[in-house]
Amino acid sequence: MAVIASHCKDIIFNVIDINKKRIKAWNSIDLDNLPIYEPGLKGVIRKTRNINLFFSSDTEKHISESDIVFISVNTPTKTRGLGAGYASDLKWVEESARQVAKFSTGHTIVVEKSTLPVKTAELIKTILEAQSKNNLENKSFSVLSNPEFLSEGNAINDLENPDRVLIGGDDSDAIYELEKIYSKWISAKKILRTNLWSSELSKLSANAFLAQRISSINSIAAICEKTGADIKEVSQAIGLDTRIGNKFLSPGPGFGGSCFKKDILNLVYLCRNFGLDEVADYWEQVVFLNNWQRLRISSLVIKKLFGTVSLKKIAILGFSFKANTNDTREAASNYITKDLIDNGAKLFISDPKVSADQIESSLKIKRTDDINNSEEGCWLYENDLNKLFYQVDAVLILTEWEDYKNIEWEKYSGIMRKPAWVFDTRNILDKKKVISSGINYWGLGDGNK
Ligand code: UGA
Repeated sequence: MAVIASHCKDIIFNVIDINKKRIKAWNSIDLDNLPIYEPGLKGVIRKTRNINLFFSSDTEKHISESDIVFISVNTPTKTRGLGAGYASDLKWVEESARQVAKFSTGHTIVVEKSTLPVKTAELIKTILEAQSKNNLENKSFSVLSNPEFLSEGNAINDLENPDRVLIGGDDSDAIYELEKIYSKWISAKKILRTNLWSSELSKLSANAFLAQRISSINSIAAICEKTGADIKEVSQAIGLDTRIGNKFLSPGPGFGGSCFKKDILNLVYLCRNFGLDEVADYWEQVVFLNNWQRLRISSLVIKKLFGTVSLKKIAILGFSFKANTNDTREAASNYITKDLIDNGAKLFISDPKVSADQIESSLKIKRTDDINNSEEGCWLYENDLNKLFYQVDAVLILTEWEDYKNIEWEKYSGIMRKPAWVFDTRNILDKKKVISSGINYWGLGDGNK
């Protein structure tokens, strides 16, 4: 919303959240205290906040004053009840629709922006129409789908220069109103009109295709390790085929983030509901492969360290699900570190943007304050490389942070316990430099032994 507000100075944007603590953080004078870390966000907030962008918890006031309401709430995968493990929990969407139905005045355009299962607009419409039918105050609504395609860490650029903007709906006046907003900085060629369901399905499909590429390249990386091929060469060779393209071909410890897994599981649930079991099985395999990849990494570390990591010290570089974000939701690091801890390892975890508290709540394992005397698997937060690498048997790189690319391994080799290993799951290191400093090297998809 901040980026949209920066392009539409003539429109007032009110961001509403019932979580008062979050709103307080969004209003914080110190821009380092914003609730999320995103490169470039501070600058956009500085330009817009309290000018035409406001943060508030007053739902009634702002809904009643709005011509357009964007619903951008959480839709986590259900953990219990019907569809548990697959379907999205739509309780916040439903609650938001009820609030709009209750507090809106006149005609309101309701835009679904959260990633939602196909046909959610129907749920929103039903709630709003029930209100319109009973209403004595002449309320009316139009529902549009306008999914977000921004990627964390690059969100500002994705919003400034999107590949496309999708607006799904059947009310051409409402679509025109939303188009007017985007056309302030995006060319008409990039604004695509579709029906509601195509728009919802396009969002799920785009994420499913992207995730599928990562599982595909991770599967090929495993074959490289067995055959002597090198995934960097294979990626380059296939990426030069313009029909395939070179993006999203970097192997890694498994995709994370709040969207890929959730969206694929939604797609799987949808397919099963429509009796398309073969299609459901096809997409579910993308998630299975990703789960396998994460455990493959932890098992491999254990095997290289003579089959046991019990009471061995291992340094973990990076906890966020990718570089340039402090988001740890569904990050491969959660699964890999938990598996190592379960196997008895003592981990020193480091990340330039993720705090110890956040790791604790993400990992759901308390950090220890006495790692040396612990008799079981445990972890400690440490960002000082001299302490991080002291007497470790291995260093495991899980996030491709810029800071890690230029570590001077020869400087730290002496303080590691030998034989020491570096496991590079992001292929960001110079293999020769690591080996010449006296450390064993393992790179993902590197079959050149
Ligand atoms: C993803 C999509 O890229 C966005 O287009 C979409 O709008 C967003 O989800 C969403 O639905 O909200 P995001 O989750 O922020 O964006 O992150 P990505 O850059 O897509 O990365 C996802 C995961 O895949 C990360 O763990 C990343 O490390 C991994 N990845 C990505 C690879 O392992 N290899 C690659 O080549 C690319």
